[in-house]
Amino acid sequence: MMAVRKTKIFILSMSIVVGISSCYNDNLEDLYGVQSCDTTSVTYSADISPIINSQCASCHSSNSPSAGISIHDYSSAVSYVNSSKTKLLGSVKWDGTASNMPKGGSKWNACNISKLEAWINQGMKP
Ligand code: HEC
Repeated sequence: MMAVRKTKIFILSMSIVVGISSCYNDNLEDLYGVQSCDTTSVTYSADISPIINSQCASCHSSNSPSAGISIHDYSSAVSYVNSSKTKLLGSVKWDGTASNMPKGGSKWNACNISKLEAWINQGMKP
């Protein structure tokens, strides 16, 4: 009986050790979600284009974009922001001021929203 208990304690403590040490391999983003979000110098090509192209461009590009809104490349995104900045931000923030986007998809994480805001506030760098 004693031996079985010791084995259980040994296995339990080993799994705690393994569990704790595996944390050291995680980066801040995995551990805390948004805390390592870098918004110091946001550009369209590096930061914004990948998000928009994977989540919005399927509907908002081509010859007949949804709602007439085309944001799939730098110049069309800039001109949409210049005409409808609050609508664009409202649509990804799901704050009730615009239709929630991406339509039928899930809300952007806080980092993506911060990046879009930073890109606009920093003068929409290409
Ligand atoms: C599956 C297609 C689809 C996707 C993906 C999509 N949209 Fe839309 N979007 C629409 C449609 C359709 C409308 C017209 C309004 C409506 O039907 O809600 C629209 C409207 C909008 C509007 C205007 C909202 C308003 O209230 O007038 C904005 C801004 C917008 N989309 C931005 C985006 C952004 C940014 C993304 C990516 C995060 C995105 N959309 C992804 C289909 C889509």
